[in-house]
Amino acid sequence: KEYTVAVVGATGAVGQKMIQLLEHTEIPLKKVKLLASKRSAGKTVSFKGTDVTIEETTDQSFEGVDIALFSAGGSITTRFEQAARQSGAVVIDNTSAFRMDPETPLVVPEVNPEALANHKQLIANPNCSTTQMVVALKPIHEAYGLDRVIVSTYQAVSGAGVEAIEELDQQNASLLKGEKPQAAILPSSGDKNHYQIAYNVIPQIDLFAEEGYTFEEWKMINETKKIMGLPDLKVSATCVRVPVKYGHSESVYIEIDRDDVTVTDLQALLAQADGVIVQDDPANQLYPLATESEDKKETFVGRIRKDPDVANGFHLWIVSDNLIKGAAWNSLQIAETMVKMKLI
Ligand code: A2P
Repeated sequence: KEYTVAVVGATGAVGQKMIQLLEHTEIPLKKVKLLASKRSAGKTVSFKGTDVTIEETTDQSFEGVDIALFSAGGSITTRFEQAARQSGAVVIDNTSAFRMDPETPLVVPEVNPEALANHKQLIANPNCSTTQMVVALKPIHEAYGLDRVIVSTYQAVSGAGVEAIEELDQQNASLLKGEKPQAAILPSSGDKNHYQIAYNVIPQIDLFAEEGYTFEEWKMINETKKIMGLPDLKVSATCVRVPVKYGHSESVYIEIDRDDVTVTDLQALLAQADGVIVQDDPANQLYPLATESEDKKETFVGRIRKDPDVANGFHLWIVSDNLIKGAAWNSLQIAETMVKMKLI
């Protein structure tokens, strides 16, 4: 069978990466349909050497579409997912709209592909920071049991979309000219105040929610439990935006169920794990870097250390390209997995 794949949000930061990755997908393609807003309709994008015209997203856009990759914001998913499903498409959604819906599988293929089996033509792709973390935590949980996770993130501006990338570029240019930088997007386009991200670190991603945590932090907390199937796992998160364009970095503290595990054990375990590359050699200054993760599908893990005081506690540094494994690749990987499992 050959598949027609639609990308909704084709002009966005994630959508553009989806198009790049689709050029090399193992899914046999009949056609690629590129959808965005009315503003972008008529623009062309090169796909495998031919120009594809971007179309406005409407209820009729999904006729003949087998797989629809959505990444245009939660309101667009909510607006069009039913039309897409009614047309027979399987929707793979990169927004937070359906992630915690009990009917909707929330999937990282290295972690819980089995959750795809009972799909109702809608699969949610997790938050970027969560995805890379669970890729590394799943093998640790399987081997040694996982009790607690405390994560602090250093997240790239591309996670907030094309406009946030432009904002960082413009602020850097202004600062170099000695002008006052303008802020209109970050930390969250929906919030009242906007702060300079260039030469800065902002401890707010998304809006604030309950108990002083932001929605981004709650996403990491709740999605980690759902994907790993561990409702009682202790998880806390501090999500921070840094002036990096691509690649999220995370300092992750874990407590496992055993106190006889060594750093070498963890390195060996992770070196075998699906989707993980261990870069951990302090003597040679080898550790994961955001700049090196760009356009890679893997999650990079290093700086693995035992906590000085807690026998079952370890620290890890986990890095991945937020637009690739954190978004576009995980979505396409879900589609490829479903095709392989004969679910589409
Ligand atoms: P457009 O460029 O036409 O506005 P990002 O997350 O990088 O900001 O990208 C958001 C994506 O969502 C873009 O591709 C954008 O398309 C798309 N989008 C925004 N509004 C709509 C809409 N009403 N219908 C379909 N796509 C939309």
